[in-house]
Amino acid sequence: MVETIVFGMEQLEKLAKSIAKKAKAKTGNITLEEFPDGESYIKFDNPVKGKNIVLVQSLHPNANNNLVELFFAGRTAQELGAKSVTGVVPYLAYMRQDKRFHDGECVSNKHMAHLVNNSMDKLITVDPHLHRVHDMADLFYIHHRKVTANLAIADYIKKKFNRKKAVIVGPDIESSQWAKRIADKIGFESAIFLKDRFSSRKVKINVTTELDWKGKDVVIIDDIISSGHTMIEAIKEIKKRKPRAVHCICVHGIFAEGAFEKMKKAGAKTIVSCNSIPHKSNRIDLAPLIVKEL
Ligand code: R5P
Repeated sequence: MVETIVFGMEQLEKLAKSIAKKAKAKTGNITLEEFPDGESYIKFDNPVKGKNIVLVQSLHPNANNNLVELFFAGRTAQELGAKSVTGVVPYLAYMRQDKRFHDGECVSNKHMAHLVNNSMDKLITVDPHLHRVHDMADLFYIHHRKVTANLAIADYIKKKFNRKKAVIVGPDIESSQWAKRIADKIGFESAIFLKDRFSSRKVKINVTTELDWKGKDVVIIDDIISSGHTMIEAIKEIKKRKPRAVHCICVHGIFAEGAFEKMKKAGAKTIVSCNSIPHKSNRIDLAPLIVKEL
């Protein structure tokens, strides 16, 4: 049987170990260092020839550095004779730059995909941002699998909240593919709000469905928390309605510009993310869902 070796790259060693354990595979070590001039130095410390190689890499923080590392590592494993190279990239950066919004701009998602297509045989990612590009196949011609964190988030909510005393909210229409689906799956009441976005830091949330909020735990679910403004505006609207507490859950916690602290200040009692991006809010393990796709 062909041996599988899982390599955890930038700060995702813990997720890599969890994946390896569940897949009954070995973990390997990859040296990732910088030359004095800042260029990346990469070395596989385990032989990869004839093996199935799994590279676990997050593309946040340091999207550019981590993408180049992933590309170099994938190419190197292929050159060294790996039987297959699979990239587990739970947070796929650059998916939001999916069109030329202004003349002269780079449509980055295509070029990120070009690097991925040319350095591995298979890509596994979690809830990628598919907005104007609806199908991963429009970007990736290698094997690709899209995992949704919904089951893991649903399990977490079921353990932490009582469905008679809690409701689920999606802050905008797009979030209903997480918030509404999770709520329906575990039998919680839910409401999906509407969002107007004026700029990357200015949004307005419109509460279009009123629920019985008083004394309830309100759990807001979104795929990404970036600047945190979507969550903050949703928290403010919900707080006006006197709930017991407001909780925020996301798949990918980017938490740019102090978003975590700003959300706490706005009144979020708990803020929880999946472990696609290393952060102190990581409470939901994606490994069981990822392993199914290996
Ligand atoms: C938007 O399409 C996404 O689903 C999130 O709502 C968005 O990325 C959150 O961004 P921010 O935290 O900057 O409001």
